[in-house]
Amino acid sequence: MQCSFRPSSLVSVVLSTLIILNLLYFFKKFGYINAPVIPIVVSTDASDHVHPDSGPAGAVVAATTVVQWKTITAATTQTVTDKPLPIPPAATDTPGSVRIPNPQLANLPSDYVHDERDEKWCEDRYGPSYLETIAKNARPYCTPSSRSQFDCLHSIMDGESRRDSFCIARNVAFDSGRFHIDCDLRDRTEPDLQGLPFPDQFSPYWYETGPRFIMAQFTQFSPKSAAAFDSQACGSATAKRDDSYKVLIKREGGMNYWHTLMEILSFYFSIDALQMAIDRKTGRPYMSPEDTSKIQVVILDDHKNLAYRDLWSYFSDKPILHISNYTESAATIPCLDNLIIPLPGASNPLWQGDWEPRTCDHSLLVDTVRSRILKHLDISTDRDFKAPVNVTILDRRGSRKLTNARELIHALKAAYPAVHVSVVDMAPLTLREQLDIIVRTDVLVGVHGAGHTHGFFLPPQSSVVEILPDDLAHRGFRNLASLRGLRYFSGHAPMVSKDKNGAKGDWHEEDVAYDKAAFMKLMEAAIQSVAHRGLIDSDADV
Ligand SMILES: *[C@@H]1O[C@H](CO)[C@@H](O)[C@H](O)[C@H]1NC(C)=O
Ligand SMILES: *[C@@H]1O[C@H](CO)[C@@H](O)[C@H](O)[C@H]1NC(C)=O
Repeated sequence: MQCSFRPSSLVSVVLSTLIILNLLYFFKKFGYINAPVIPIVVSTDASDHVHPDSGPAGAVVAATTVVQWKTITAATTQTVTDKPLPIPPAATDTPGSVRIPNPQLANLPSDYVHDERDEKWCEDRYGPSYLETIAKNARPYCTPSSRSQFDCLHSIMDGESRRDSFCIARNVAFDSGRFHIDCDLRDRTEPDLQGLPFPDQFSPYWYETGPRFIMAQFTQFSPKSAAAFDSQACGSATAKRDDSYKVLIKREGGMNYWHTLMEILSFYFSIDALQMAIDRKTGRPYMSPEDTSKIQVVILDDHKNLAYRDLWSYFSDKPILHISNYTESAATIPCLDNLIIPLPGASNPLWQGDWEPRTCDHSLLVDTVRSRILKHLDISTDRDFKAPVNVTILDRRGSRKLTNARELIHALKAAYPAVHVSVVDMAPLTLREQLDIIVRTDVLVGVHGAGHTHGFFLPPQSSVVEILPDDLAHRGFRNLASLRGLRYFSGHAPMVSKDKNGAKGDWHEEDVAYDKAAFMKLMEAAIQSVAHRGLIDSDADV
């Protein structure tokens, strides 16, 4: 039987409402329904889904929507219909809708497996496992009678002996430029500390960054800490306390985009892990999501400029301090509740394996920090898919210039009149201005350099072109592109010696000149890759 009632018929609407109400009454009365009843819109085009025999009620709902009455109980979701369930369209998986588990499913055939070794290697570095492992490896380092608490967390990655560690101290006194942690260290042979580095064994990182150097220069442990602790009366219950979470940041210096971004991400990952790890003393996470608004960054180094200030203040709007503010300001409250010494940039898993091919093709860590940063800077990623392909060429003004850039760009524009080509010197732009260009770029082109860090922020459908000096086999940006799912194209260009005698020097310094035909071939591949993705309304014969 086909639907015999016209959807628009008023009679059918009234009838079916009555039928539904009656059915509900009976279901309820006879115990079929023991929980609140909620209507769930399952489909907006249901004519194929409704059983032809479903009668008047079915006929009505077939008009535009299928409404099913579901009982939601604590453990299961049941459907109160006598008809087979229509398959929910993907749209029901959007946030706020109810997922319908299908209890009739058996296992996926067993050969549907990822390459587990690869997966583990990649997940340990680029997936949530990275944060989970750190959070699981939180350990207290002070004896219970210590007045301060000093707990450290450790990252352990598949196949690596090295450990990266960072710490949170609680109940700390600040005095004469140092944070006094009144902590009698536990015995390093205790079972829960086995296999994890003790604070004096923490890795040193370059530019004297990381907890080991920070502890040596800016903290004081027992027994030397006791005097300051007492003179500030931080042990007393009535002492005035600073309840923020001070985060001690020691930067590498230099303004290199990649280095700075790695430092910032290591800071984010440290805070994220602290929200996951359980403090044994309280049985709760070290930080709640609300606590993150109490974060205050304290810069320990003397490097002049604070690059990407907006990103350092991602968690809270508390002003960023310099350690000298602490030492000098009369407003400093010396008794601190929380002190965090985070992971340094050099420990960042995104910085590992730069010279090796990596097969990891996705990263929830990268995707999350990307959207976190774009949202924080209020950058919209909408793209008009009817607009032409956008090629952005990074114009390096310092070292590693492309000496024949003018000729190459001229040729490119002539060959692709329908493509929008812009040549940008990012150096004078703010990060927000830079990212505004990057999220609208389809093909990012440049000579190997920090500008390729923008691979983090390119749109998902875009491509990266890297022109490397001669024999340089650095794979960092290639690997990053793979983690983002971007297409990557490289070319190698001979270095143009600046040395009058023609001696070639360090690739860091030398300019390159790229053969025009080679460049056009490279750009052809990259532009086609974008045109071929189908998202952009562009023909392949651009
Ligand atoms: C901290 O000190 C620096 C100079 O050392 C000063 O410019 C800045 O305003 C101070 N910040 C606060 C919040 O007091
Ligand atoms: C292409 O780039 C230009 C300049 O950055 C920008 O104005 C334009 O909106 C971009 N096109 C798309 C489709 O995003």
